[in-house]
Amino acid sequence: MTATASTTAVIVGASSGLGRALATDLARRGHALLLVASDARDLQAIAADLELRFDTDVATLALDLAREPDPGARILASLVSMPPLSALLLAAGVSRDDDDFSLPAARIGELLSINLHAPHAIVHALLPTLRETRGTIVLFGSIAAIRGRGRNVVYASAKRALESLYESLRQAHAAGALHVQLYRLGFLATNLTYGMKLPMAASEPDAVARHIAARLGKGSFARYVPRRFALIAAIVRALPWFAFRRMRG
Ligand SMILES: NC(=O)c1ccc[n+]([C@@H]2O[C@H](COP(=O)([O-])OP(=O)(O)OC[C@H]3O[C@@H](n4cnc5c(N)ncnc54)[C@H](OP(=O)(O)O)[C@@H]3O)[C@@H](O)[C@H]2O)c1
Repeated sequence: MTATASTTAVIVGASSGLGRALATDLARRGHALLLVASDARDLQAIAADLELRFDTDVATLALDLAREPDPGARILASLVSMPPLSALLLAAGVSRDDDDFSLPAARIGELLSINLHAPHAIVHALLPTLRETRGTIVLFGSIAAIRGRGRNVVYASAKRALESLYESLRQAHAAGALHVQLYRLGFLATNLTYGMKLPMAASEPDAVARHIAARLGKGSFARYVPRRFALIAAIVRALPWFAFRRMRG
């Protein structure tokens, strides 16, 4: 029998990287959790470990976001017997090496489903509940979206579109009625960057997760993590076109 948590956090993309680190941190803080990713066995193993270590309720939902037409409805149904929803963290994401105008249409659709359709569909479905609890929606953007390049073409388009979703949510809700937080992430040491030659050291997901978990329920904002990427983004955006075109990597 686990202790009774007072609120639930949903983590989409909870089986690895940042999502898994968030699950650990939020379980430590006493939230009940609903963990979502594609592999049921991975999720069950993580849930069993967290329940044992932190004495909190952890439910799981296996969904393939590349193929699921209505992921929000499936998540809502899984929340029925859980404590009130206080936070939705949309940490699922996929990028591909061949996202350089070489992708066939089906792969383009998958990338858009996971990186853009799923966040929209899940936000739309959970919004009424999150309004009732004055909860927090956490979106994860990327430095890949700062300026369009010949790599990560579809991924960056999806991440740029999440900026619009962030603005729409903020514009539609009075301050305090809903907390909307967008993290524009730099490089993280996760599966997504595994084996990649990066121009700088990647951040540890545990440290980033601690930062994010500590700010749930504390207002709305969009920010770069690590913060130094705000300056890098400003410089990249200010580059004249002829100079930006020559950028590689
Ligand atoms: N790593 C970086 O350097 C970096 C930089 C900028 C932004 N970001 C963003 O940060 C967020 C977290 O990324 P991460 O680095 O932690 O990535 P990660 O370690 O690869 O984890 C991605 C998560 O998404 C889930 N996922 C992927 N495809 C799925 C599908 N079809 N259905 C359901 N779940 C699926 C994965 O679970 P399964 O595969 O088990 O389903 C996993 O839990 C993402 O939004 C990413 O775009 C990352």
